[in-house]
Amino acid sequence: RFDEVPGRYKVRDLSLAESGRHQIRLAEHEMPGLMALRAEYGESQPLRGARIAGSLHMTVQTAVLIETLTALGAEVRWASCNIFSTQDEAAAAIVVGPTGTPEDPRGVPVFAWKGETLEEYWECTEQILVWPVTDDATPTGPNMILDDGGDATLLVHQGVAYERVGAVPADTRPGEPDHSDENNVVRGLLRRTLQDDPLRWSTIAEQILGVTEETTTGVHRLYQLAEAGRLLFAAINVNDSVTKSKFDNKYGIRHSLPDGINRATDVLMGGKVAFVAGYGDVGKGAAEAFRGQGARVVVSEIDPICALQAAMDGYQVVRIEDVLDQADFFITTTGNKDVITAEHLAGMKDKAIVGNIGHFDNEIDIAGLADVPGVSRTEIKPQVHEWTFPDGRSIIVLSEGRLLNLGNATGHPSFVMSNSFANQVIGQIEIFTKAGTDDGYGREVYRLPKLLDEKVARLHLDALGVRLTELTKSQAEYLGIDAAGPYKAEHYRY
Ligand code: NAI
Repeated sequence: RFDEVPGRYKVRDLSLAESGRHQIRLAEHEMPGLMALRAEYGESQPLRGARIAGSLHMTVQTAVLIETLTALGAEVRWASCNIFSTQDEAAAAIVVGPTGTPEDPRGVPVFAWKGETLEEYWECTEQILVWPVTDDATPTGPNMILDDGGDATLLVHQGVAYERVGAVPADTRPGEPDHSDENNVVRGLLRRTLQDDPLRWSTIAEQILGVTEETTTGVHRLYQLAEAGRLLFAAINVNDSVTKSKFDNKYGIRHSLPDGINRATDVLMGGKVAFVAGYGDVGKGAAEAFRGQGARVVVSEIDPICALQAAMDGYQVVRIEDVLDQADFFITTTGNKDVITAEHLAGMKDKAIVGNIGHFDNEIDIAGLADVPGVSRTEIKPQVHEWTFPDGRSIIVLSEGRLLNLGNATGHPSFVMSNSFANQVIGQIEIFTKAGTDDGYGREVYRLPKLLDEKVARLHLDALGVRLTELTKSQAEYLGIDAAGPYKAEHYRY
């Protein structure tokens, strides 16, 4: 069952809006960065005229982001960037809006629900890029994208590529086998949309001033496009603001990884062996979370620097093959593909819990698992599946290999997302207000200036009772920096 008005919204159930609104109200209290931006920019409305297509997990925290963008003047359409990550009550509350009712919704168009099929997922992504015809019959589209993982940006780029070469690009979804289900779905969508309007995607692309990208994996795709000279508009890499990746990716995961495992399985972590693939920002948060629960943590890495860091932090660095029959938890955090193969899965200890917290589901070969002779799958509850091998051993797979903190729980908590999303809002303002000026952003990938990164951190200090020491004039001169910041050189690594 859905509540929907075609072209305007499609969510699970608008009657959940009241619960969603209460959760949004409490989240606002925990998101001082976003609320400070509303106070600072509410009057000047820097996003008036911005039409933002948002593709980011439709959670309660994202609801506060959406209403911050609209408070700054933007029009917004929203979809989730993962089939399992929507909180249906948040989606309902955003469609209804603060002043509407389920019978008279007055909020923002949302196309998202928990448990979408792949076809539905891409249709929702399409919906945020197609805006209703205006009163004067001018077709409009978005002029900004706010992305997480890059699927909205990808759809526009692949659509344009299809128009130019007259065929669906082979690597519709980079890193996926050419004929994977996902690639076939995207191809089908492009074919259908271009039958209606052969210049559909270039018309959309021409209007887009830029994108602000949330996560490591999406940023990686943007740099690849820019290097190939294929990037169609400006891009701000939000992920590599220090106040994003060194907080959300690490401290957010430290909270939401055990949350996902607990809600899914309620299996004690203390005393068990936990294997974490990857010791980047997400891996560091994951390993710390397991250690905090008293687990014995082992880590794998391909990068000698990160491997050495893990060792110095006190974790044994292993290869997955070394611990298949020992580890009770296997968590991937790499953003890479084929990190846990079907062969690995088939060799794991009985009742091992397996999950991915990196952006895409290709880190764990679930499709290959289904092909293991004699294997069977039992649904314990939604997003928790037991796979049993012919010898009677079984493993528990979370969220079908998709990011488990959003599939099995509700993602990162509000306070950390306030940091990430304050960067998003500032990024949107930067691109939108500077477009067409001498300071405008070109078709490249940019990071926000350090002063703005420091501003985001500053907005969160009072809530934690932090008393910052101020530089004296002579100390500032001694260090050769401005007393008001930026405090570090660009190459400083935190
Ligand atoms: P990162 O680049 O800092 O860390 C990834 C690490 O994995 C690197 O150190 C790399 O050397 C290592 N690695 C790559 N291939 C490997 C392999 N085959 N075996 C072992 N290690 C390998 O990236 P970050 O920021 O930690 O992000 C990781 C993933 O998590 C990305 O896909 C990102 O988009 C996603 N992410 C997910 C979040 C969530 O809420 N679930 C939040 C933030 C990021």
